[in-house]
Amino acid sequence: MKILLFGKNGQVGWELQRSLAPLGELLALDRQDRQHCGDLSNPEGIAATIRALRPNVIVNAAAYTAVDKAEAEIELANTINCAAPRAMAEAAAECGAWLLHYSTDYVFNGSGNRAWREDDATGPLNVYGQTKLAGECAIQASACRHLIFRTSWVYAARGNNFVKTMLRLAQERQQLSVIDDQIGAPTGAELLADVAAHAIRTALLTPDVAGVYHLTAAGETSWYEYAHFALDFARQAGVALKTPKQAITAIPTSAYQTPAKRPLNSRLNIEKLQAAFDLRLPPWQAGVERMLAELYGK
Ligand SMILES: NC(=O)c1ccc[n+]([C@@H]2O[C@H](COP(=O)([O-])OP(=O)(O)OC[C@H]3O[C@@H](n4cnc5c(N)ncnc54)[C@H](OP(=O)(O)O)[C@@H]3O)[C@@H](O)[C@H]2O)c1
Repeated sequence: MKILLFGKNGQVGWELQRSLAPLGELLALDRQDRQHCGDLSNPEGIAATIRALRPNVIVNAAAYTAVDKAEAEIELANTINCAAPRAMAEAAAECGAWLLHYSTDYVFNGSGNRAWREDDATGPLNVYGQTKLAGECAIQASACRHLIFRTSWVYAARGNNFVKTMLRLAQERQQLSVIDDQIGAPTGAELLADVAAHAIRTALLTPDVAGVYHLTAAGETSWYEYAHFALDFARQAGVALKTPKQAITAIPTSAYQTPAKRPLNSRLNIEKLQAAFDLRLPPWQAGVERMLAELYGK
């Protein structure tokens, strides 16, 4: 089996290089690749790469993920998050390849407090979410067999993410303010990559699993609780933090202005994925602890 991976150096792409390797011949590209176009700002180039390599499975871990910057770079975000996945899906359909693609909790408007199901009405609040939703729709409108995994709050030991920002800030500042009214599930790139490998095997044997799924770790938390969880771990591991526990203040989203609006309710219901692929997704704390143990050697 030949697998073509786009975005090999992102948080998820890096872990996919590990998890997909035992499935077959893995061709992993980033935007700098000299031999084949792996640059999603060039959708025709991406389609040409697929036609030339004729993979059995395409995995797209590349995306325009700068949520605030996207508000000003609408066209580029749209090319990378929608036009390129469309080109991938159309070329995949021509080759008979599967396409596995990642999307986001930001396709929803964040209302209510129930975990979103796959068929709930979407309503993105920002450009990033709009372009990711448009990417989903383009893939679904194509004739290619696909898996779309909507995930949330991704972290990894490698790459930039909320936990690493909190750990850095807590070593620099005596006080931190963290949002406590956005709720979701921190999800490790390792988990996303491991589930992808499992899902590809299942899909090749049982093609009717094709579709959209919510894929996060189990449970829920706020950014505020999540920050406490990570900083408690770091403190116990002997990391010198300037921020004492009591100097972490909970603030509402309304007190923290950003160019892009964020959803309050990012809970995603994972029952469909667990049933379709016969998996049990672990609680979010397990993966975060594992990453922190790796970072701090505990
Ligand atoms: N991060 C999150 O919290 C989060 C939440 C929900 C959903 N997701 C989705 O999960 C997937 C993986 O996200 P992630 O956290 O792994 O993101 P990430 O760490 O930001 O990685 C994104 C990757 O895309 C690459 N990329 C950007 N523009 C590109 C282009 N024009 N051509 C080729 N590659 C390009 C980046 O390359 P460079 O390093 O060269 O820029 C980077 O390697 C994405 O679909 C994302 O939308 C992420």
